[in-house]
Amino acid sequence: METILIVDDEKNYLVVLSAFLSGEGYETLTADNAHRALEILASTDLDLVLTDMKMPSMDGIELLRHIKEEHPDLPVVMMTGYGTVEKAVEAMQLGAFNFILKPFQNETLKQIVKKAVDAYSVLKENRRLVGALETKYHFDNIIGKSKPMQAIFDTIQKIAHTKATVLITGESGTGKELIAKAIHFNSPRRNKPFVAISCAALTETLLESELFGHEKGAFTGATAMKKGRFELADGGTLFLDEIGEVPASVQVKLLRVLEEMTFERVGGTRTIAVDVRLIAATNKDLKAEVEQHRFREDLYFRLNVVHIKLPPLRERSEDIPLLIAHFVNKYAREANKGEMTISPEAMRFLCNHRWPGNVREFEHAIERAVLLSKGNEITLDDLPNDLMSFADLEIPIDWQKLSNLPETLDAIEKRLIQKALSLSNNVQSRAANLLGIPRNNLHYRLKKHNLL
Ligand SMILES: Nc1ncnc2c1ncn2[C@@H]1O[C@H](COP(=O)(O)OP(=O)(O)OP(=O)(O)O)[C@@H](O)[C@H]1O
Ligand SMILES: [Mg+2]
Repeated sequence: METILIVDDEKNYLVVLSAFLSGEGYETLTADNAHRALEILASTDLDLVLTDMKMPSMDGIELLRHIKEEHPDLPVVMMTGYGTVEKAVEAMQLGAFNFILKPFQNETLKQIVKKAVDAYSVLKENRRLVGALETKYHFDNIIGKSKPMQAIFDTIQKIAHTKATVLITGESGTGKELIAKAIHFNSPRRNKPFVAISCAALTETLLESELFGHEKGAFTGATAMKKGRFELADGGTLFLDEIGEVPASVQVKLLRVLEEMTFERVGGTRTIAVDVRLIAATNKDLKAEVEQHRFREDLYFRLNVVHIKLPPLRERSEDIPLLIAHFVNKYAREANKGEMTISPEAMRFLCNHRWPGNVREFEHAIERAVLLSKGNEITLDDLPNDLMSFADLEIPIDWQKLSNLPETLDAIEKRLIQKALSLSNNVQSRAANLLGIPRNNLHYRLKKHNLL
């Protein structure tokens, strides 16, 4: 329950306002002078101060100044009577959240109070998340409080200092390369090179020469000796990305390096020995590749000494608020925007989306939203509008009945309305806004679809 402090030298006002706001579900405290208000503030967690402007001894402006010194974010709403309106402008410049002219309707007060309290709770939530980020929910710059991510952090800590080969699997964009780097930079090899190579998109010969190097004249175009990635990574870590794409002939050579840590450059006869820690990654199901005889089983076992399986983002949505805080802060800082918040609708949307491109896609969406947002709040408008795909709507379409277009369209309409309602936390006016229809029209449709 949010706590509101009401400050006014007219005791009757305190009684009336306190009764009204309690009735609206707030906890209320009252002070009949500014000094008392500051005492209460010092010992209580408040969510809003509602203060009169004209008071003897210390007026509302002075009180506002004191509050802003200690609690710059706590919203303060000024109540100004006739003759003090110009003071209200000054109050706004000093950081008051809003002002309200006396006498006022309860409804007006209710709305202003709600806005202030909501904005503050969003800000506090954001703070809390940033605070959480600074503690245990990250490993280097890898964010995650979900069970699988915490287990992965544990694994990294346990195996980073060893030389064990690591196989990292996970869908595209889940953070495989990030994990590989974290292992390297938390290992005794951190001051030696971290060399990465993608095994896809290279022909067999090129891949071989990239990995093991070649001697001058080894093949047409080999005009000089070239060191391969194994040699370049000597003492450090070699990251073999998309290991599932390695052709059979290169798989044999890799197996030998893993077993003996020796190899020859292409076209060479001298055996070269290196000290390299190998980390491999793939978004394929490597075990299935083995079963289909597309990947050597012995190589698979050599690689799979430690297996880190990154879950897709949609299976760890509890990490999403932290990731939002992380990326919003990162990109707000880069864009020189101040502290930013995110509207509850946008937050819900981000948490519910399926994110087929995982953290990479998610990060881009946030980066874009930070740049697009007009004020300091990210809203639904700032999120890519192609994000919601029909797959997300999970519309039950009966293929037998596809010829009945009106029925199919009805099903789609129903799901869109349900989606809008869930995004707006069942607040019908917001859902109507999202759908771009008047509220009574939404009401009619809710009835039609039995959603009331
Ligand atoms: N848990 C996480 N916390 C913070 N950032 C993350 C996290 N996971 C991924 N990222 C970010 O998402 C982006 C994609 O990560 P990365 O390149 O490691 O994915 P990947 O699994 O290697 O993808 P691909 O299979 O497409 O190569 C990077 O910018 C990375 O910093
Ligand atoms: Mg990658």
